[in-house]
Amino acid sequence: MRLFFALWPDRPAAEALAGLAAEVARKVDGKAVPPEKVHLTLAFLGEVAEERAGDAASAAERLRVRPFGLAFDTLGWFRGARVAWIGCSDPDPRLVALQSRLAERLRDRGFALDDRPYAPHITLARKAGRPLLSSAVEPIGWRVREVALVRSEAGTGRYTTIGSWKLGR
Ligand code: 2AM
Repeated sequence: MRLFFALWPDRPAAEALAGLAAEVARKVDGKAVPPEKVHLTLAFLGEVAEERAGDAASAAERLRVRPFGLAFDTLGWFRGARVAWIGCSDPDPRLVALQSRLAERLRDRGFALDDRPYAPHITLARKAGRPLLSSAVEPIGWRVREVALVRSEAGTGRYTTIGSWKLGR
C-alpha cells in the first residue's frame, strides 16, 4: 500500500485552501486539488508491504512536539512535477522538529525517504500547463494538533487515514 504521513488542515483552512486552489488552477490551466485532499506531507513512504504498516505507524508515537500554528503565505511551482503549491515563508521550528524526528524514526525502521531537504508545501493544482510566478498571498493557516498516517489508493487516488496521533509533550 502507498503510505504517507501528513498534517490535515481544519475545515476553515481546508475551505480557504481549496478556494485558492481553484483560483490557482485556472491561472496555470491545471487541475485543482479538492478540499478533502488538501494536506501538508511530512514524509512520503511510497509502497509499503501490509505487514510493515505497523512499523511505520510506531514511528509517530510520542513525538514530543507540542501543538503549533502554521501559516502558508507564498505561492510557487515545481516545473518538473507541474505542480503549483503554497508554502510557508517562516515555518514554525516545531514543524521542522516534527518532520525531522519522524523522518529519523522512519529511516531507523528501514524506510527509504526522499534525501532532499524538506520543503514544506501544500499542492494546490496538478498538471499545470503554465508556470506560476512566486507571490505572497494572505496567510492561510491552522493549529496543528495531530499527525496522520494516510493511505493513497492506487486506482482512485482516494486518501484514507489509517492512524492519527495527537501532539503533546
Ligand atoms: P505532492 O503533493 O507534492 O505531489 C501523496 O502522494 C503525498 O505524498 C503528496 O502530498 C505528494 O506530494 C507526496 N509525495 C512526496 N514524494 C512523492 C513521490 N515521490 N510520489 C508521490 N507522492 C509524493
